[in-house]
Amino acid sequence: MPAKKSAAPKPVEELSAREAKAEHARLEVEISGHDRHYYQEDSPTISDAEYDALRLRYEEIEKRFPELQTLTSLTRKVGAAPAGRFKKVRHAVPMLSLANGFTEEDVADFIDRIRRFLNLKDSDKLEFTAEPKIDGLSCTLRYEKGRLVTAATRGDGTEGEDVTANVHTMKEVPHELKGRDVPDVFEVRGEVYMRREDFLALNERQKKEGKQLYVNPRNTAAGSLRQLDAKITASRPLRFFGYGYGQVSELPGDTQFEIVQALKRWGIPTNPLIVLCKSPDDMLAHYRKIEERRAKLEYDIDGVVYKLNRIDWQDRLGFISRTPRWALAHKFPAEKATTVVKDIQITVGRTGALTPTAVLDPVTVGGVVVGMATLHNEDYIKGIGGDGQPIRGEIDGKPIDIRIGDTVRIQRAGDVIPQVLDVLLEKRPKSAKPYVFPDKCPACGSHAVREVDPETGKADAVRRCTGGLICPAQAVERLIHFVSRNAFDIDGLGEKQVALFFEKGWLKEPADIFALRARNRKIKLEEEEGFGEVSVRNLFNAIDARRKIPLNRFLYALGIRHVGETNAIRLARHYQTIDALKAALMRAKPTDEDYEDLTHIGGIGEVVAEAIVEFFKERKNRAAIEALLKEVDVEPMEAVARDSPVSGKTVVFTGALEKMTRDEAKAMAERLGAKVSGSVSKKTDLVIAGPGAGSKLADAKKHGVKVITEDEWFKLVG
Ligand code: IVH
Repeated sequence: MPAKKSAAPKPVEELSAREAKAEHARLEVEISGHDRHYYQEDSPTISDAEYDALRLRYEEIEKRFPELQTLTSLTRKVGAAPAGRFKKVRHAVPMLSLANGFTEEDVADFIDRIRRFLNLKDSDKLEFTAEPKIDGLSCTLRYEKGRLVTAATRGDGTEGEDVTANVHTMKEVPHELKGRDVPDVFEVRGEVYMRREDFLALNERQKKEGKQLYVNPRNTAAGSLRQLDAKITASRPLRFFGYGYGQVSELPGDTQFEIVQALKRWGIPTNPLIVLCKSPDDMLAHYRKIEERRAKLEYDIDGVVYKLNRIDWQDRLGFISRTPRWALAHKFPAEKATTVVKDIQITVGRTGALTPTAVLDPVTVGGVVVGMATLHNEDYIKGIGGDGQPIRGEIDGKPIDIRIGDTVRIQRAGDVIPQVLDVLLEKRPKSAKPYVFPDKCPACGSHAVREVDPETGKADAVRRCTGGLICPAQAVERLIHFVSRNAFDIDGLGEKQVALFFEKGWLKEPADIFALRARNRKIKLEEEEGFGEVSVRNLFNAIDARRKIPLNRFLYALGIRHVGETNAIRLARHYQTIDALKAALMRAKPTDEDYEDLTHIGGIGEVVAEAIVEFFKERKNRAAIEALLKEVDVEPMEAVARDSPVSGKTVVFTGALEKMTRDEAKAMAERLGAKVSGSVSKKTDLVIAGPGAGSKLADAKKHGVKVITEDEWFKLVG
């Protein structure tokens, strides 16, 4: 989350009508975004206090300029969800998301990737289902012995909210599945949505009754499903399309298409526009057909989803991070509008990246008021792309840049932050000057630099603050990341508390969190506003509960550049214990070999390795980790499959593999708990050699490492 570091805002009494209008719209976009994070994604990115301040300012502006209060104003809108919380449900099979494609080329790449991964012959035919991508919210319905037992929202994909009572009120969702072939356990995955006409009628009703209005069908569906009072959900015309499955005791078919047919047979509504495509041309033809019909459909859609039809192939393909390799959302083109850039603001992110945002004259794009657009980075403003080429064309031999005062075309695709597409030069005011990107961090005044790649001499697109831990923007952000859900996950220590503790000087680095209880005799947290004895006790207990933490979470929590959850898992699997990791990485003067070693971990490339080495090279970081390790126990990484014959073993694949591709082999070995290395050393346990294996085979002999064939590998792992 970028920390906003613009100058203190002007008091509302001093705003001109124009300024007020611009700010009102900007706030509307910002607040709606936060509402979405909070209510629909359940992952707020700002503290409650910051949110309240935005809301208050928005309301103050409306009070002073009542003409700004439109029908869609946030002050008239029903809160997206009620206060209070639902019971959490852990998904037996995670609820994933979809990779997006925008062009026909993206679709071709998607198919090629599948072919390569599965190592298919040109003569092997691929079939895909194609169906509309519904603009609703995903929901999982768990049927046991045919009876609906639990319904849950997606939440963060791992854990959602228990909305069983609410889903029970939906007429379209059967309480019981019909048919003789219904498996013992079957989780139906699908989308809850609201039809456009139902949404309009509901708003009409709201208007008549003098109640607040809703913004769009999707938010309304989400808000309606997540009502603590199921009676309210019952009064809302929510609908459902089933399109997939989660945990199942048995599958009713071998293909995606057959499974959807089974859902339909069992009484689950399925989308009538799903078809089976036998070629890429079929897929694109269906995409165009659906796009043509889009406006006439009864519900909102934002693209077409392709899914590989064969389930055994889906299983082999598996997932990359949170998206399946076997499915693609082919999105419809983004909606566009023209407006004026009023200002350019710089925000500082957790990693110190300085990110520019255009403040726009508010404009409606696809039914949503847009007041801000991302400008990505310095080069993007200058009109230069990642390849050094002009991105918006040239004028007088120079790339076309973006200036304050420019009229620009913006586009918005789905939920992503709107982007500035191009500049209407004929409307550029004479006074508009090229934007000078700051070379000092707006948060701490440290130099902000662009890393230069030593090999290519090319500057990184992102300018970063060099202030590291002293930069308040980064320190607070790093601590917030540290306690966040997928990191240390400390209950009661959210953004608001971290920001407060930081401001008071109680919290500067992660280890301080664990010293809070001991220091509380002086601090007396229970005397702070918003805290009481019980909440303080709970907080300290929650902190103590995290004195044991798995290695991968620990690593992820450190906020090392490029080390997200996936790379943290890769590192943890490789080193397995914190001691091994320390021995390998915590050096003041890392050698080239340390760096090399890292690049041999499957999935860790040079850039990531460089970032990791740089991180541990920094003395302040090492000191912070040592201090933290005095407070917490880092649990060794559990291998994925503990009882597989190769779990915990280091394996190397070499030579040509015939039954699987290299990527597939690696993914399989990792699933079985093995570490896959790129080179053979005395630490290697097993080499799987195909025809044409060369130097690695020789290395294996030298180190006395066991060598087996691909067939023997399959026998070994069953
Ligand atoms: S399949 C493993 N099919 O889009 C992925 N998703 O952007 C399972 N969505 O979270 C998703 N229509 O909420 C699938 N026909 C469809 C869909 C669909 C809408 C939503 C779903 C998912 C999101 C990903």
